Amino acid sequence: LDLRYAEDQQQLFEKHSDIAGIIHFAAHKAVGESVKNPLKYYENNINSLVYLLQNISSKNIPLIFSSSCTVYGEAEEVPIKEDAPLKKAVSPYGNTKQIGEDIIYDVSVANPDFNAILLRYFNPIGAHPSAIIGELPIGVPQNLIPFVTQTVAGKREFLSVFGGDYPTPDGTCIRDYIYIMDLADAHIKSLEFLIAGKNSTNCEVFNLGTGKGSSVLDVITTFEEVNKIPVPYKMAPRRQGDVVAVYADTKKAETVLGWKAAFGLKEGLKSAWSWQLNIDKAAASK
Ligand code: UD1
Repeated sequence: LDLRYAEDQQQLFEKHSDIAGIIHFAAHKAVGESVKNPLKYYENNINSLVYLLQNISSKNIPLIFSSSCTVYGEAEEVPIKEDAPLKKAVSPYGNTKQIGEDIIYDVSVANPDFNAILLRYFNPIGAHPSAIIGELPIGVPQNLIPFVTQTVAGKREFLSVFGGDYPTPDGTCIRDYIYIMDLADAHIKSLEFLIAGKNSTNCEVFNLGTGKGSSVLDVITTFEEVNKIPVPYKMAPRRQGDVVAVYADTKKAETVLGWKAAFGLKEGLKSAWSWQLNIDKAAASK
């Protein structure tokens, strides 16, 4: 079902009257593409959400929304707390996350019995431990980890480390890399939390990160250590639009939601490499 078609969505909700909750993942997420084709992003990420809310808000079906730490922009203070001021989004993609949050908040004000959680993901990485489910970027990967795994697999010559002159201990940017298995667990906990009525407001926000910042060079050395294979890389100029350091304050998720990341960079990077090996093996056997 394509969520952009309001009538199709409506029919779905008429057919299934027993939906306990929605985890809404259906959105585009490539920053660069969103700059080139903003309407594709506004149509898909916003229209679909509006139609979804039209179907679920009056029925009080709880909603878990995929938001992003991108809403904080270059934060004044790290670790970033949920009540940190939001910055104007630098890309249409980021803007769809901010607008999406605003729309859900407004609906929650208008319908006090409708409950939602906005989950602000930091940098999700890795694949399912089975190596059967993972991400497959279209074309040249823009995100760090798929670029690393494709480089190590020999598909790219070397990784460009964007900027070695940032005001950080090793000069490279800092991010909070969160393993997708932890993220998945947080979604289940969030939905259970709403269904059990444990929320104190009907539109809650949680950061999903590890609380630990890692630099690009940390990622490279950890990848090499856990997978016992070198990462060919070169230092390169800064990438436009990158922020220096972003990592989560995780206290609210821990104390209110009862969720804390169980894994770290090592598990995420190990699973990312197993996934890359598995997709290459599958491609070779075709
Ligand atoms: C980006 C998005 C963010 C989104 C996230 C999803 C922007 C501004 N933000 O975050 O909204 O939620 O992806 O995972 O695009 N790097 C290199 N070489 C590379 C690629 C990346 O050095 O080839 C560096 C970047 O400079 C950055 C770090 O690796 O410091 C992480 O980059 P990336 O994976 O693209 O994520 P973000 O830019 O943090």
